[in-house]
Amino acid sequence: MIKKYNYIARASAGKSEKLRLAIQNKIFGPGTEEFITPFLKSNMTALIVGCGTGEKTCFIAKNIGPTGKVVAIDLDEKQLEQAKIKVTENAITNVEIHQMDLMDVSTLPYLFDFAFSRLVLTHVPDPITAIKCIINKLKSRGRLACEEPVVSAAYSIPKSPVFTRHIELLKQYGCAVGVDFDLGNKLKRIFTSVGLEEVTEQISQPTMATPEIKKLIPMSLAACAKGYLAQGLATESEIEDLISRLNTEIVNNENYVIKQVKVHQVTGLRR
Ligand SMILES: C[S@@+](CC[C@H](N)C(=O)[O-])C[C@H]1O[C@@H](n2cnc3c(N)ncnc32)[C@H](O)[C@@H]1O
Repeated sequence: MIKKYNYIARASAGKSEKLRLAIQNKIFGPGTEEFITPFLKSNMTALIVGCGTGEKTCFIAKNIGPTGKVVAIDLDEKQLEQAKIKVTENAITNVEIHQMDLMDVSTLPYLFDFAFSRLVLTHVPDPITAIKCIINKLKSRGRLACEEPVVSAAYSIPKSPVFTRHIELLKQYGCAVGVDFDLGNKLKRIFTSVGLEEVTEQISQPTMATPEIKKLIPMSLAACAKGYLAQGLATESEIEDLISRLNTEIVNNENYVIKQVKVHQVTGLRR
């Protein structure tokens, strides 16, 4: 089993990460809900892999209803604290939350009708093994649904050197720690190669136009800063300068629009 946890925003987990993931969920949430809603049925058992601060946990739990069960896992204790708060605030009673590595899902005492992850496998050094581990916890004809990015596809209109550098740094970090931030491109092929059936794929690429949404960009850079420094990819002063320029040149400049990363939404059934 691979036990390497390189989640780039780990050091920033907590309240700032809660806000960052909340904005991210505003961007990707509607597409996610459209993607998974047809698969959610009352009474089913669902596994949420890498639930983070629980942005989609309550949505899935509500759709499955009190007679169904949701098990949400993540390795990051601080993110799970936020997820637990959300579940309590929403008075949801059918969710179990566990701090665990997704490679260890075999230890969960359940088989699932549905497993879901969003923007998680891209942070894992061996996503194929990860997918196999998750599939092993599905019932026969159980469904896996994953959303993974193609970071290289993000761009600004008009073109901005500071935004280009932001994306370059993320890709360089991925290379340095052995994770693939363009995993979305391969996801459908992986699903087929591991034996999933009736594999489908759709692709979305949201637009970020308002300051409230565009501020995700400098927030993400700040969340990644420790990782970049640890890998020697940038200096503290370059990161500070980039954050400041992202704010002035893009976030608070109505002439700039960002096309976010592409997200590949792929689903398939276990035999
Ligand atoms: C970008 S966040 C996405 C969170 C959530 N899925 C969402 O869309 O809001 C990635 C999450 O994957 C989790 N993660 C990364 N590697 C993991 C692993 N090996 N096992 C469990 N969780 C992991 C991180 O802790 C983090 O919460």
